[in-house]
Amino acid sequence: MTKYKVLFILKKAEDYMSGQEIGRTLSISRAAVNSAVASLRSEGYIISAVTNKGYKLINSPDNLNEGEIMSVVSPKAASLVKCLDTVGSTNSYLQHMAQYGAEDGSIVIANEQTKGRGRFSRPFESPKDKGIYMSVLMRLNDYTKDSSQITAWTATAVAGAIEKVCDITVGIKWVNDIILNNKKICGILTEMYFEAETAQQQNIIIGIGINVNEKNEDFTMEVQDTATSVFSETGKKINRAELAGEIINAIDKMRRDWDISNKSEYLEFYRKRCVNIGRAVRYNKGNVAYEGIAENIDDDFKLIVRLSNDKKDIIASGEVSVRGLYGYI
Ligand code: BTN
Repeated sequence: MTKYKVLFILKKAEDYMSGQEIGRTLSISRAAVNSAVASLRSEGYIISAVTNKGYKLINSPDNLNEGEIMSVVSPKAASLVKCLDTVGSTNSYLQHMAQYGAEDGSIVIANEQTKGRGRFSRPFESPKDKGIYMSVLMRLNDYTKDSSQITAWTATAVAGAIEKVCDITVGIKWVNDIILNNKKICGILTEMYFEAETAQQQNIIIGIGINVNEKNEDFTMEVQDTATSVFSETGKKINRAELAGEIINAIDKMRRDWDISNKSEYLEFYRKRCVNIGRAVRYNKGNVAYEGIAENIDDDFKLIVRLSNDKKDIIASGEVSVRGLYGYI
């Protein structure tokens, strides 16, 4: 969108820039520049206009749009990102795009989801302008690789980005939750699509939902005991575009590492952050309930559990509750 190209230029400019120069750079008229500036102002951007000098961006709100993303990632990465104001679910939207040929690595980011979903068909609360709700398309070349590990790789990439931008240390609850002070700040939902006739995997959509600047009351009562945000725990207002940019870069690196099976860095990071290890856990397999102590993460990111009868179990999927988290006392 033109206005976000104007925003990008204003963000990079160190001083006032004339409407004529902005127009020339973008091959648009001065009138089009004026109307882009008016539209950006209506979105909360403070843009000073001085006769004979031009425009200067004075202050930016915490918006997530293509202009903001362009300012924080490479042009190649930014070209794969689509930002939406409101959407049902970024995963569903991206899957639709994938069916119409969206490129490997395409990303959809929304400011709000009205039907955000989590694992086990649970809703994922996605209040407007507070969090980051994004989905990434992976079209895998090598179908023989164990794609079930992607969620754990993604948790590692996202946790690293959150730590860097927010200057905090997080935990990871196997397999897909990122934790701060024993509450959830991020969930990951990986969905795989198969072609009915051939049963061949078509693509993978990785959905990432991060609670960034929410206050406790932005969540419904149902999740207030388990969910929190970076802001609620640290008091820091985080620039969502900066965090989204760091995540886009981390996911980009992850996709390259995935291709060359460069997993040791991910395993090491994941094991260090995994809050399950050394704690009592419980889970179900079919109708049978199990309890034990989580011992470690194996080389395929599966959870190794020492059961109460001293037998070892290895869990590849499903949900595992950890004592001390989410109401398990
Ligand atoms: C979970 O905690 O169970 C997973 C939550 C995943 C939420 C993200 S937000 C972006 C993407 N779109 C969705 O509808 N869900 C994922």
